[in-house]
Amino acid sequence: MKHLYLDHAASTPVHPEVAKVMMEVMTGQYGNASSVHAFGRAAKRTVSGARDRIAASLGCLPDELVFTGGGTESDNLALFGIAAGRAGQGGHIITTAVEHHAVLHACEELECQGFRVTYLPVDSHGRIRIQDLEEAITPDTFLISVMYGNNEVGTLQPIEEIGTLAREHGIVFHVDAVQVLGSVPISCKELPVDLMSFSSHKINGPQGVGALYVRKGVALQPRAFGGLQEKKRRAGTENMAGIAGFAKAMEIAAASIEERRAHDLELRKVFLDRLEACAGAAHFVVNGDPEHFLPHIVNISFPETDTETLLMNLDMEGIAAASGSACTSGSLEISHVLQAMKLSEDVLRSAVRFSFGLGNTTEEMEYTADKIGTILGRLRNRH
Ligand SMILES: Cc1ncc(COP(=O)(O)O)c(C=O)c1O
Repeated sequence: MKHLYLDHAASTPVHPEVAKVMMEVMTGQYGNASSVHAFGRAAKRTVSGARDRIAASLGCLPDELVFTGGGTESDNLALFGIAAGRAGQGGHIITTAVEHHAVLHACEELECQGFRVTYLPVDSHGRIRIQDLEEAITPDTFLISVMYGNNEVGTLQPIEEIGTLAREHGIVFHVDAVQVLGSVPISCKELPVDLMSFSSHKINGPQGVGALYVRKGVALQPRAFGGLQEKKRRAGTENMAGIAGFAKAMEIAAASIEERRAHDLELRKVFLDRLEACAGAAHFVVNGDPEHFLPHIVNISFPETDTETLLMNLDMEGIAAASGSACTSGSLEISHVLQAMKLSEDVLRSAVRFSFGLGNTTEEMEYTADKIGTILGRLRNRH
């Protein structure tokens, strides 16, 4: 049986060149970057070299990057690190109803700490309206956090417009850019953004390492205390091999961004065309924005069936896709993103996320579409 991995939005295979670099660091270097001896200095060079290369790819200064343990930690450091600077004054935060749980659950915790949070609604494509944001701003709004690209449906938000508005009001703007890294060119210095979260394992780098961009001059309070690492913004010995791998993955992603985009768009087109041919256009619906979207994520509902049945049947065929929703006590919870898009009940209950990348081929997309056609036919005959 073939085994097809169509869950790249969850995590990606490590690129062989990344693995090679990491192996070299893991077997050849064991100093602590904070030590003053030669071993320590070598480790420090590895970490600062990686920082310089990632900063160059992202269009920021090396000191504007804080290495973290991944996207979740970057989001948490951004939100709690800015909120901590309010010194008991409280205040208002604006985010959206479709953020990753790393932001949503952090916001819920901030509400428990006394902050007010507005969760902006989205349209049926998953995009916020600038007018809603404008109306939500109050004199004590100190932070706006909006994701660049959604991890479930791939919808892109109008980051530049949001950032411009935030600047006009003197509000700090954080962007979760975890899913767009490697798909959309990013220049931190050109975007009206103060903080941006990144994660290595979404771009064929290792899991458990990421970065937070912190624009020079933005006052971020640390959330981890200890050593002086990361200019006192995140204490703890650096994940040296992980950081070196992240830098290599970033270098590869930046050099191949156009190629990757074209490849993902082709895979998407082949998949949807074939699905139309073998399942029929009336039997599925694509969720997300038809214009502003990430090419590697395609979220499709099959209203005649349900998410769980389809995922199980695909898994039996060796195809790994995702629901985007959490599995609690054996049953799938409806995704908060699709719920916020106010889609009909049958669309909500039958959504499957296919996400592709390194290693996937057009033949695999055709194979998957054919299998879906067969599965839908089989389920139909059963009723
Ligand atoms: C948009 C978004 N933000 C944050 C995260 C969390 O990143 P990590 O898995 O590195 O903690 C993810 C991971 O799926 C994501 O898609």
